[in-house]
Amino acid sequence: MNFTGSNILSVDQFDIDSIQTIFAIADRMQPYARRQKRTKVLDGAILGNLFFEPSTRTRVSFGTAFNLLGGEVRETTGMESSALAKGESLYDTARVLSSYSDVIAMRHPKSGAVAEFAEGSRVPVINGGDGANEHPTQALLDLYTIKKELAYHGHGVDGMHICMMGDLKFGRTVHSLSRLLAMYKDIRFTLISPRELAMPDSVLDVLANAGHHVTITDQVSGSSDADIVYQTRIQQERFTTPQEADLYRGKFRLNSEIYTKHYKPNTVIMHPLPRDSRAEANELDNDLNQNPNLAIFRQADNGVLIRMALFALTLGVAEQVEKYECDVNWYSSKPSGY
Ligand code: NCD
Repeated sequence: MNFTGSNILSVDQFDIDSIQTIFAIADRMQPYARRQKRTKVLDGAILGNLFFEPSTRTRVSFGTAFNLLGGEVRETTGMESSALAKGESLYDTARVLSSYSDVIAMRHPKSGAVAEFAEGSRVPVINGGDGANEHPTQALLDLYTIKKELAYHGHGVDGMHICMMGDLKFGRTVHSLSRLLAMYKDIRFTLISPRELAMPDSVLDVLANAGHHVTITDQVSGSSDADIVYQTRIQQERFTTPQEADLYRGKFRLNSEIYTKHYKPNTVIMHPLPRDSRAEANELDNDLNQNPNLAIFRQADNGVLIRMALFALTLGVAEQVEKYECDVNWYSSKPSGY
């Protein structure tokens, strides 16, 4: 895949080689993310960071990634504070904002809206989540995390067993991650959800066509050899009413007791975050916080590396990052990571 100038809208754009390219560049971003070195490779470049749906880590990590490469960030958050609330089309917004920016990251509540926006944009557009459809950068950081966590335990992605749990119908992160994992070999997927929130057929078809082994269940038991358990939040914003979401909140929880009973001692625990920590949901309990297999904050850290790699690639500077390197003058307490 030729990344320079390309939009990143769906994981379907990638193949194993392009994923390897992104991950190799993400690895090279570690010294900058850890503040051991700086780079000014994107000095003067502007990111338009347009988030029309709630976000903390995706929005801030896109901005941080761009800043770490030396670029500047202009941000718009919330539909009501933008001209979209006055009836402006995505096309018009894209035409205008793309002349103010060199690249745009965008999140929107409607499936397909980021692709529609990209049609009017004159600069590359990166999908930060479009409705229940896709979240390609999250899938990349999830896969990058899975590879690193499993490598630590001495194996790879091919042949692994992953359990995805919770709201698999509306959770865009599991849709994109499943499609990405489908490119690997012999993966066992155990998909645990209430029947009404099962993984969409469009994703199941991709897994079946690629020959993976899929179990669909509403029981947590039976996954004792899982390598990964990927918990999700009930996507209450996608239900017609909050009361409808209440029916499912708290149905599938993961805490120390459940983890010890149903999973092997080194099953990696993942969640795209935010985890809903309210008592009625509490899908991923704080009593797992000290468990070394809890990878949720390593996932979030990896998001910066992946987004740096994608900016470097789409703006065609991946091979010049080190050339524009300089020293960090301040005290840095960043941990050494993996
Ligand atoms: C996810 C999202 O927005 O789809 N969060 C994220 O980007 N890390 C998951 C969620 O909101 O539940």
